[in-house]
Amino acid sequence: MTDLRKVFILNGPNLNLLGKRQPEIYGHETLQDVEMACRQIASAAGHDIRLLQSNAEHQLIDWVHEARESASGIIINPAAFTHTSVAILDALNAFEGPVIEVHISNVHKRESFRHHSFVSGRADGIIIGCGVQGYELALQRILKIIN
Ligand code: DQA
Repeated sequence: MTDLRKVFILNGPNLNLLGKRQPEIYGHETLQDVEMACRQIASAAGHDIRLLQSNAEHQLIDWVHEARESASGIIINPAAFTHTSVAILDALNAFEGPVIEVHISNVHKRESFRHHSFVSGRADGIIIGCGVQGYELALQRILKIIN
C-alpha cells in the first residue's frame, strides 16, 4: 500500500559505518541516531520516514524508483556515488517530489574530486558540512515544502 506521508532518507556506501568510520570527519553518531532524531521530527508533523542504507548503486536506484510510488520526498546522501553516478541522477530526475542532498562533511574543504556532485543538478536543496544535523535540517525543509 502506498503511503505518501513517508520521506525516504537514502544513504550510500560506507555510511553503515557512521560513528565508527573516520569520526574526526563524520562524528560519533550512528545512522540509528539519525533515524531516531528524524523519526521524532517527522512524527511531530504527522509524517513518517524510511531510512535506508546500501553499499550498492543499483539498490539506491531501486529505492528511488520505489519512492516514485510511495514517498513524498527524498533526502539523499549518496556518499561516494555523489561524485560518480549519472545513474542515481537519472533515477532522481524520474522522481517528482522534493529532493534534498545531504553531506555530513564539508566536501568543499576536502579533496577536489569531492567538489563535484552529479546529484546537485537535481536537488531542490543541498546541506553540506553540518554534521549529522544536516539530515534533520533537510527533513525540516522537506516537511515545509510538502505541507
Ligand atoms: C559524504 C562525502 C563524500 O565525499 C564521501 O564519499 C562520503 C560521505 C558526506 O556525507 O560528507 O562517503 O557524502
